[in-house]
Amino acid sequence: MAETSNGSNLAEITAAAMAALEAADGEAALQAFERTWLGKQGPLAELLASIPRLPAADRPRVGKAANQLKRELAEGLDARRSAIAEAALRQARSADDYDASLPAPRSPRGSLHPITRIRREVEDIFGSMGYRVLDGPEVELDHYNFEALNFPANHPARDLQDTFWCDNEGHVLLRTHTSPVQIRAMQRLKPPFRAIVPGRVFRNEAVDAKHEHTFHQVEGLVIDEGIHVGHLIGTLKGVLREIFASEIDIRLRPGYFPFVEPGFEVDIRLPDAGSRGGVLADWVEFCGAGMVHPNVLRAGGVDPERYSGFAFGMGLDRMVMLRYGIDDIRHFMAGDLRFLTQF
Ligand code: DAH
Repeated sequence: MAETSNGSNLAEITAAAMAALEAADGEAALQAFERTWLGKQGPLAELLASIPRLPAADRPRVGKAANQLKRELAEGLDARRSAIAEAALRQARSADDYDASLPAPRSPRGSLHPITRIRREVEDIFGSMGYRVLDGPEVELDHYNFEALNFPANHPARDLQDTFWCDNEGHVLLRTHTSPVQIRAMQRLKPPFRAIVPGRVFRNEAVDAKHEHTFHQVEGLVIDEGIHVGHLIGTLKGVLREIFASEIDIRLRPGYFPFVEPGFEVDIRLPDAGSRGGVLADWVEFCGAGMVHPNVLRAGGVDPERYSGFAFGMGLDRMVMLRYGIDDIRHFMAGDLRFLTQF
């Protein structure tokens, strides 16, 4: 008795399921079909669950047939789903505005890092002023990073630049500034010349909103006969005008860097400074600069009796932060797309 009822049950289920599949005309209907006929609660699942209660002799046959039906329904569902998708595509293609020659949708593009953007701008500005763009090694020798820049061994000024050393002997380091390329430039180029050196620099610093272990500078070096501080100031003002698209006040304070004499800290005041409060508080440190020390000229193989020069080192990170009002230097190296895609 059980056998007949289950046998006819199977036939009923097959007929009803096939009719439902035939009638399904879209994704919603297909999902409903899947729930009803292939789900855990459906009549077919019920039938399968009842098999253990059948007479032992009938179990294999009914079980086999029920499983077979389950497979067929799953295959039927797949086939119906592709048929519907294909029909939809055919219809879209026959629409009046279908144009097979249109380009495929573009994959999403990345954007340039804000430091890269500023670096390229700065390169363009100096390039238009006759400067060449030089590069130098990030893993540098003590000789170039300190010694030839007039920081003798054990000089206290070395302590101002917490250094990542690469060896135990103190010969190899991660450059703490782009200034070592001043020496490399003088050794390679015959004066007169003008050059900038954008690049990454590294310091063994405790990281906070204003300090990073990895940051970016642009070194500048001009060597010629008769170069004086006026050239330096004029150059900086011209460059700042380009970068910030307006006339920028600058102020020089005495600053100590062993490789320049005199040396300056250059402060700038942005045009909207007044709107942010007191006058003096609005000066912000912008770069270090000065007249190239004769010892440095000599270390680069340049005759200090004949040539003089100015040099400066600006922080690219600082420039980006001032221009876009970014308050935390750590954003630059964090790789967070929410930050990066804003530029
Ligand atoms: N190298 C210096 C630093 O990282 C910055 C600097 C100061 C560069 C004065 C110069 C300069 O060329 O003349 O702190």
